[in-house]
Amino acid sequence: MIFTVAIDGPAAAGKGTISREVAARFGFAHLDTGLIYRATGRRVLAGEAPLAAAQALLPEDLRADGLRTPEVAQAASRVAAIPEVRAALVDFQRRFARRKGGAVLDGRDIGTVICPEAEVKLFVTASDAVRAERRWLEERAAGHDTPLEDVLAELRARDARDAARATAPMVAAPDALVLDTSAMTVPEAVAAAVAQIEQRLPAE
Ligand code: DC
Repeated sequence: MIFTVAIDGPAAAGKGTISREVAARFGFAHLDTGLIYRATGRRVLAGEAPLAAAQALLPEDLRADGLRTPEVAQAASRVAAIPEVRAALVDFQRRFARRKGGAVLDGRDIGTVICPEAEVKLFVTASDAVRAERRWLEERAAGHDTPLEDVLAELRARDARDAARATAPMVAAPDALVLDTSAMTVPEAVAAAVAQIEQRLPAE
C-alpha cells in the first residue's frame, strides 16, 4: 500500500509528537524532514558550503547529537531558504513518501511540494505563546536554562523566515486540515490525526 501522511506546520506546534504516534499506530515509516535541514545546517556551521553540505549528507548525520540546539535550528532555517539546497533534498523525501507500507513525513512543505498527492494532509499549528512554552519545557528537561523570551524570539524568527522564503514557503496546502493544538492535549491531537487517516485508508 502507498499511503502518505503529510504533517506541516511551524516550529514546536506538535508535529513531531503527532507524527511519531501516528506512525507507530499504523505501522508507517516516519521521516522528520527538519532533521535533514538541521544536519545540513550543522555541516554549514562546521564550515562546509550549503549545497555541498546537502549533497554530502549521510544517514548517520540525521542521528548525530546536537541537532536540537537553537543555533542549529537557525542554521537549518537559513540553508532551507536556498533553492539549490532544497532541490538537492527533494528526491530522497519523495521516495520516502511513496515507499510501500505507508509513510508519515513532517516538515514545512510536505503537502505542498514534496508530496502534493499525499492521502492525508495536516497543518498543525498553535499560538506563539503555547509553542514557546512547550519548547521551553523541553529545553529545560534537557538541562538548558534559556529564558522563555529567548525561546519565543527564536521560534518567531525561524517561522518568519520559513514562511517568507520564495521557494517552498511554510504554508498550509489548500486541501490540508488545519489542526490548532493550542488548547488540545497530546491524546486529543493524535486522535484528530488518527480520525483523518482512518477516513482515507483503503478498505481491507
Ligand atoms: O522541523 P524543525 O524545527 O526541525 O525544522 C528546522 C528548520 O528546517 C525549519 O526552521 C525550516 C527547515 N525545514 C524546511 O524548510 N522544510 C522542511 N520540510 C522541514 C524543515
